[in-house]
Parts: sequence; structure tokens; C-alpha cells
Amino acid sequence: MGSVLAGHFRTLGHGLLIANSRGPQTLSQVARKTGATPVAISEVARGVDLLVITIPMKNVPSLPRDLLADLPESSPVVDTGNYYPLRDGRITEIEGGLIESAWTSNVLGRSVVKAFNNIVADSLLHKGLPRGSKGRIALPVSGDDLKSKQLVMALLDQMGFDALDAGPLSESWRYQPGTPAYCPDPMIQELPKLLQRAKRDRAPRNRDQAAKLMTKLPADFPPQELVRVARLSAGLDSLKPRSWIAALRFGIAALRA
Ligand SMILES: NC(=O)c1ccc[n+]([C@@H]2O[C@H](COP(=O)([O-])OP(=O)(O)OC[C@H]3O[C@@H](n4cnc5c(N)ncnc54)[C@H](OP(=O)(O)O)[C@@H]3O)[C@@H](O)[C@H]2O)c1
Repeated sequence: MGSVLAGHFRTLGHGLLIANSRGPQTLSQVARKTGATPVAISEVARGVDLLVITIPMKNVPSLPRDLLADLPESSPVVDTGNYYPLRDGRITEIEGGLIESAWTSNVLGRSVVKAFNNIVADSLLHKGLPRGSKGRIALPVSGDDLKSKQLVMALLDQMGFDALDAGPLSESWRYQPGTPAYCPDPMIQELPKLLQRAKRDRAPRNRDQAAKLMTKLPADFPPQELVRVARLSAGLDSLKPRSWIAALRFGIAALRA
């Protein structure tokens, strides 16, 4: 996700720093591909206008304690994270019902904007469209700081996606894993209904079932087939034969494993 976002921001003409846990010398390939400048993690947030945290949630607590010390108060912190116990281990507070991005916000000690978590990297890379285009994907953005949220929504629009204000961070559970709005590439007419239909108590079970199946898929299973399956599971496209073919392919691949 980090390199896809970096590519978008670069295309929009923004200066860009990237970092990981292993050091800038390990990021030369991403730098070549995206035009971003690799730096040490301790430098990545210094004085920047926007910070995106896009790492597995289990690693958020291992970010440097003073990561945000020199980040201006006005710069939004965007969280793309999703909680998968299969990958992240069990995080007690989230298991107890805390909203995923609220947990990240608590760990960082800073308000976050939740965005980009419910679109697969392949769609984010390839499916942006100019404003007003038919089939433009809509993505929810939530957060408690209106200015930060609006800035992220404007950025999304420039990247080729409709942005929907999904309310405060307390509402962001509506597009966490296991909900209908998780990764079906919805259009702006579809997204509000999907958010409305989310069932908070059912999402963790749906998420874990999906995650188990995903581990059985071959690494080259086409991401757009996964989007079709997500759309079908969300009650969209049930009259489209391609969706059912995707579901069949998904089932067969999972059974074969
Ligand atoms: N992939 C998707 O399609 C997608 C879509 C939406 C949301 N998301 C969510 O976005 C987050 C990132 O996903 P991803 O698929 O991009 O993960 P990924 O492919 O595993 O990449 C994670 C990146 O984070 C870096 N990293 C890990 N721990 C770090 C740390 N402590 N400090 C600094 N950098 C660290 C890793 O580099 P090093 O290991 O070298 O540090 C790596 O570059 C996850 O929560 C995921 O659920 C993913």
C-alpha cells in the first residue's frame, strides 16, 4: 500500500519521504519506482504536511516513541490499517470492542484519519478515474478533526476516487474487515447503503472466515476476482455472471489448497 500511495502522491507532484523499519538502503527499488526519497524512520515525519501509517497493525507499537514529535499539529495522520488476528496476533483492546483506528490513535497519542483501508492495492493502483466518470470508486473517510478529514478527502478526489465523509472515527467500524463496505470497490450511490448495513457483532467472524480462506489462495489469484467476490458478498452484482464465475474460482482455489 505504501508504494502505491507514494506513486499517486508523486504523480500529483508532491515531494515525498518513505521509511520502513530496516532503513533507507532497503528502499531503493521503491524509490526508483515511485520517485520518493527513502529516509530513516526517525526522519520521516519531521515537518511534513501529511503522514501515512501503512504497516501491519501488530507493528504500530514498535514505531519510535518520538515519531510524531516534529510533525506539525495541522498535519493529518492517515491510518490505512486493518486488524487481522491471523496476522497481527490478538490485540486485547480491539478484541474487547475498541475501534481499530481508535486503538492506533491511542498508541500513537494522536488523532488519525481512517482512509484507504477498504480498497485492495490493485484497485488503488489501477482504478482511479476523473471526477464524474461512470464507475468511479467511492471510499469512506472518517476522523474527528474536520480539517484533516477534508484534506484527505480532497487528496482522494485528486487521486481519482470519490470520497464520502463517513463521520467521526467512532463510526469507522462500518468499513473494517468483515463488513459489506470492505473492498467491493463501490460507487458513490452504493457506498452509503453498504455502510448502513454493517453489523458490528458479525464483522469479526466474517473477517476471520475470509482471512482463513485467503491463506488458501495461490499468491497469483487475481485481485480483481477478489473484488468481484467482495461485491457479491456485499449483495452487489448478483445478476452478473462474471461475479458468480469469480466466486466459483475462489471456491475451487480455496478447496484445492
Ligand atoms: N495490501 C492491501 O491491499 C491493503 C489494502 C488496504 C489496507 N491495507 C492495510 O494497510 C496496512 C499495510 O498493508 P500492506 O499490505 O502494505 O503491508 P506490507 O506489504 O506487509 O507492507 C508493510 C510495510 O510496512 C513496513 N513496516 C513494517 N513494520 C514497520 C515498522 N515497525 N516501522 C516502519 N515500517 C514498518 C514494511 O517494511 P519493513 O518490514 O522493512 O519494515 C513494509 O514496507 C495493513 O494494516 C493492511 O491491512 C492493505
